[in-house]
Amino acid sequence: MSPAKKILLSGVKPTGRPHIGNYFGAMRQFVELQDKYEAYVCVVDYHALTTLQDAKELANFTYEMVLDFLAIGLDPAKVTLFKQSDVPEVTELAWIFNCITTVPYLERAHAYKDAVAKGREVNVGTFDYPLLMAADILIQDADVVPVGQDQKQHVEFARDTAEKFNRVFASVPSPVFKLPEPIILDAVKTIPGIDGEKMSKSYGNVIPLFATDAEIRRLTMGIVTDSGVGIPKNVFELHKLFKPEEELNKLYQSKVGKYQELKEMLAKDITEFIAPLRVRREALSKDRAAVLEILKTGGERARARAAEKMKIVREKIGVSIN
Ligand code: TYM
Repeated sequence: MSPAKKILLSGVKPTGRPHIGNYFGAMRQFVELQDKYEAYVCVVDYHALTTLQDAKELANFTYEMVLDFLAIGLDPAKVTLFKQSDVPEVTELAWIFNCITTVPYLERAHAYKDAVAKGREVNVGTFDYPLLMAADILIQDADVVPVGQDQKQHVEFARDTAEKFNRVFASVPSPVFKLPEPIILDAVKTIPGIDGEKMSKSYGNVIPLFATDAEIRRLTMGIVTDSGVGIPKNVFELHKLFKPEEELNKLYQSKVGKYQELKEMLAKDITEFIAPLRVRREALSKDRAAVLEILKTGGERARARAAEKMKIVREKIGVSIN
């Protein structure tokens, strides 16, 4: 008998269309690792609710993201693809984690600190965000969590929370939660946006993965370059995602100062890359019922596992009385 596969879990927030930072930094890894691991991929709609409070938009982005995942090659026969809200045990577990976590500990979260530094009025969900994510990961017994660099701290929080729960409620020989490891690929850990800062929806500097050709062209031509004559770093950094670096080194050396031409080439390479994925997405989008069925099946599978885990958790904390 072959040994059981290790478990992979990751998630993406449906707050808009995914961008090429999400794709290269994380989503592509889910596809590449789907044979090696028993994989769980969730569209984290309750996380999105911390910032997106429009029912139609949330439902729409969630559905569209499932299409995106299928179009990039996630195989529902191999991967459990589901939406977070179909596993309500996750919010139950997050509450339990709330009760063993201190406020100063959560105040260390980068995302929270950034929001405070920007003078934003932070809702409780945003503050508590890392514990909901810890629940996503730990409830499925994930061994590995492929993410971009910006989520590293959150995976560390999940590890700390697992350790703390095991310490407080469980005896050492049978810890309830595994300690998950992030998988962060060095070359793509922080994909820059068109302004050279980290690509992020909230910075307005993204190239959506399934952008139209016209959008790709417009956004690519808008990549910020310095006024000097040389190699346009921001263009090169994005181009590296689509063409081998050695090839680009030669190309960029032969086109020193020709920013416009290099941007045109990048736009063409992005367009060619996305074209076949777009065809697949288009075909999938014709059968909404089939897509929803995949989501439903995935949700049931993920929920069944979560329910098993919660039985143990409830016993450990003392809320199961028989
Ligand atoms: P989210 O939706 O912000 O991003 C999804 C994934 O994309 C990665 N990413 C990037 N990688 C490289 N360069 C970039 N510019 C870039 N921008 C985004 C993110 O690191 C992430 O891997 N909290 C998570 C969602 C989540 C989750 C989970 C992830 C909820 N529960 C459980 C893993 C496991 C988030 O907001 O990702």
